[in-house]
Amino acid sequence: MKRIVSGITPSGDGSVHIGNYLGAVRQFKELSRSHDCFLFVADYHALTTVQDKGQLQKNIETLILHELALLGDLTNITFYRQSDINGLHTELQSILNNVTPLGLLKRAHAYKDKLQKDTAEDDVNVGLFSYPMLMAADILLYKPDLVPVGKDQKQHVEITRDVAGRFNKTYKKNIFNLPEPYIPEEVATILGIDGKRKMSKTLGNIISIFDDEKIIEKQVMGTYTDPTRAHATDPGHVAGNMVFTYLDFFGEKEKVAQLKELYTKGQVSDIEVKKYLYESLMKTFAPARARYADLAAHPEKVKVILDRGRQHALAVASKTMEEVREAIGLRNAYSIGPSTPASPAGGSLGTSISIDDFSRVEMTVGNVVEATNKEGSDKLIRLVVDFAEEKPRIIFTAVRPFGYTPEYFLGKQFFFVTNLAPRKMMDEESRGMIMAVDSDTEKKPLFVSAEGLTVGAKIR
Ligand code: TYM
Repeated sequence: MKRIVSGITPSGDGSVHIGNYLGAVRQFKELSRSHDCFLFVADYHALTTVQDKGQLQKNIETLILHELALLGDLTNITFYRQSDINGLHTELQSILNNVTPLGLLKRAHAYKDKLQKDTAEDDVNVGLFSYPMLMAADILLYKPDLVPVGKDQKQHVEITRDVAGRFNKTYKKNIFNLPEPYIPEEVATILGIDGKRKMSKTLGNIISIFDDEKIIEKQVMGTYTDPTRAHATDPGHVAGNMVFTYLDFFGEKEKVAQLKELYTKGQVSDIEVKKYLYESLMKTFAPARARYADLAAHPEKVKVILDRGRQHALAVASKTMEEVREAIGLRNAYSIGPSTPASPAGGSLGTSISIDDFSRVEMTVGNVVEATNKEGSDKLIRLVVDFAEEKPRIIFTAVRPFGYTPEYFLGKQFFFVTNLAPRKMMDEESRGMIMAVDSDTEKKPLFVSAEGLTVGAKIR
């Protein structure tokens, strides 16, 4: 499965508007049917503009809820916060800084815009200047094939490709692949309700998705239509009319075609067309608005999703960082922890790992709710295991050669390691590992029972 990575920044008030939705979230949803998706809340990125603690907290919370509500089903989606990945995003940013020429960043739009607008070069925030490097790190850590974004972010993906190439060349190792931006033309830039500039939280020209109905209605009613049309009976223009631009995405095809015809003939008023847009938006987003209310009322569900996402993303990002540290020479004979290079004899991690390293291994009590022999394999048993998470996980164990059958596992509780990077086994991903111990007397691994313990409880 190809991989995508993308982020949204909790800037402005943290809300997701229809511009973000069409330019990004809708693509995430579609791509998640056939791609392994890493989607994150870019909270470090927000620091360039949000420097009020309470505001940042609120923005992050809002964005998490909005994005999760819009995504709905999270199959194939790893959803996490950038700042939850143990600083790996900023570590890679620091490393990449050293293979990047100043000129590359000076050509970045965000920096150039700032200079043109109101700020002297000496006053530009360094965070804003190195923003593209943080984005490069966000992306490269997960080695994606595609980065779905709106057109405003295209240059950042190009900088990422440039930096990845420079890193590989400098260290003569192909650690990073060069991801492609994924920008469908029809949603590359969604204009705001002013009909002039990109829809943007900071410009305040948005139509929101989760606000009070009255607010959304007001935003729709304030949307730019055709300034040359004074009366409903005047023939109106559809091209450049934002109400019709949005209706092309949210209205029913036939009804929209009919309204366009009436509008150009002067047979329907602006108000009627806007009313239809408002109704279409409410209909499109009704399921997401319901999910939003549910998530807002159940913070524990949100935490479970974020925790699961963090574990998976951390496992993938840690692996990349190990390769990076190794490639650049940070790993050496005195390195400690799980990163110690394998001994010459091969395989072993060495004699000592630290308590901190060990505490990062997460062992969880799981209940086997389904167990079957994996078709096409003579070794694998496919377990479906409940960890009191949002969804049970599929975990394989290759123990048929020892005489184990699915019936042995079904309905029982065991300990599982749950923060491993998923491993593809035949056509599915195994998201964890069942724990077993060697036996002196029996020639097979023995599984450690967790009967009577709470499902989802972790060993500490
Ligand atoms: P942000 O938060 O400004 O926007 C999130 C996504 O929405 C797209 N977008 C739009 N697309 C079309 N029309 C619009 N009016 C519109 N407004 C926003 C953006 O292009 C973006 O895809 N720096 C990024 C977040 C980020 C990121 C990353 C993205 C951080 N690291 C790594 C991809 C990969 C940003 O501020 O997007």
